[in-house]
Amino acid sequence: MSNILNNYCLKNHNTFGINVKAKYFSTFNSMLELKDILKINLHKKEKFFILGSGSNILLTKDFDGFILHNKIEGICIIEDNENDIIVEVGSGVVWHDFVMWSVNQELSGIENLALIPGTVGASPVQNIGAYGMEAKDSITKVHTLEIKNKEVKIFSNKECEFSYRNSIFKKEEEKKFIITKVEFKLSKEHFNRTEYGAIEEELKKLKLKAKPASIAKAVIKIRNRKLPDPKVLGNSGSFFKNPVIKTSEFNVLKKEFPEMIGYTISNSQTKVAAGWLIDNAGLKGYRKADAGVHRNQALVLVNYGNASGTEIINLAKKIQQKIKAQYGIIIEPEVSIL
Ligand code: EPU
Repeated sequence: MSNILNNYCLKNHNTFGINVKAKYFSTFNSMLELKDILKINLHKKEKFFILGSGSNILLTKDFDGFILHNKIEGICIIEDNENDIIVEVGSGVVWHDFVMWSVNQELSGIENLALIPGTVGASPVQNIGAYGMEAKDSITKVHTLEIKNKEVKIFSNKECEFSYRNSIFKKEEEKKFIITKVEFKLSKEHFNRTEYGAIEEELKKLKLKAKPASIAKAVIKIRNRKLPDPKVLGNSGSFFKNPVIKTSEFNVLKKEFPEMIGYTISNSQTKVAAGWLIDNAGLKGYRKADAGVHRNQALVLVNYGNASGTEIINLAKKIQQKIKAQYGIIIEPEVSIL
C-alpha cells in the first residue's frame, strides 16, 4: 500500500524553491501503484495535483490537498522500422535524460529540446518547445489513466490538440486524466534543425558537424549561458508565454519600437518576443527583495533565496501592468500557479 505523507515540505519539489507544504503527499512508481493510491479515494475528498519535477509551477501558498508525485520510469523501444523507431517512455522520466538517450542512439526529433527542465509526462501537457522544435512533432500517443474509472485511455497525436505551449491536457475538464507514458517517433534520418538562434554559430565554435548529439551539445551550451540553473537560482524557465497579436497591431507597434522582435505565425498573426518587451521596458535585472527578473533573459523570473510565491506573483503582476501600459499587450504566465 502506498505511503501517504502529511504536511510534506515541497521546497525540494519545485524549481522555484518555494518553501510551502502539502497537506497530503504520495509518490507512485508505476501504473499499479497509481491505481492503489486512487483506491484510497483521498483524491475524491481533497483537491489533487499531479507533480512531476515541479519545474513549471509557482506555489503561492501551502497546498491544501493531495499531491501525487509521478516517478514512472522506463524507456522502451516498441517498434524499430527502416526510417524510425517508436519508443514508449514513462511519464516520470526526466525529459533531459530522455533527450540524451535519444541522441546517444543517433536518433533525431528532440535534440533541440535538450536541457528543458521537467519530466516526459509534462512534455505533451504544454507541448514543450525550443530552437525550432516542439514535442508535438515527435509525440505519437499519450497513455493516460482516467481517474474516474481507473481505465486506460490513449490519446492520438491529433486528439491531444497541440498548439503553442498548449494541449487538451491543459484544459480543466481534461485534468481527469493522469499521463502514465508517452510514445515518440524518432527518426533515423537526422533533421539537423540548426537555423534557429545561435545553434549554427555554436556548432562552429565547438568545431562540430551537425548531428543530433552535437546539436544537443550546442543547445546545452546556449541554454547554460542564458538560462539560470534552478539548483543555483530558483526559477521555472520562461515565466510568460510569448503573446500572439494581430500582425496589423504589430506593424503599428513596430513604427514606435523599430527593434521589437516578432515572428510571423500566420497571415494575420505575429508572435512577439515577451523577453524583448520586458527587457525594453527596463525590467531586465529588476529585483525586489528576493524576487527578480533574470539579468540575462527577461522572460525568466528568479528567486534569489527566500522569495515567497506571493512575492513572485506580485512581481509578475507588476511586469504585466508595465507591458500593458507600454505596448497595449497582455502577457500571460506560462507556468501553472497553485
Ligand atoms: N530577448 C531580449 N531580451 C531578453 C530576452 C530575449 O531582447 O531579455 C530577445 C532575444 O534577443 C531574441 C528574442 O527576444 O531575439 C527571443 O528570445 P529567445 O530566443 O531567448 O527565446 P524566447 O522567445 O524568449 C522561447 C521559449 C524558451 C526557449 C527559447 C529558445 C517561450 C515562452 N519560451 O524563449 O523556452 O528556450 O524560446 O527556443 O516560448 C521555457 O519555456 O521555459 C523556455 C525557456
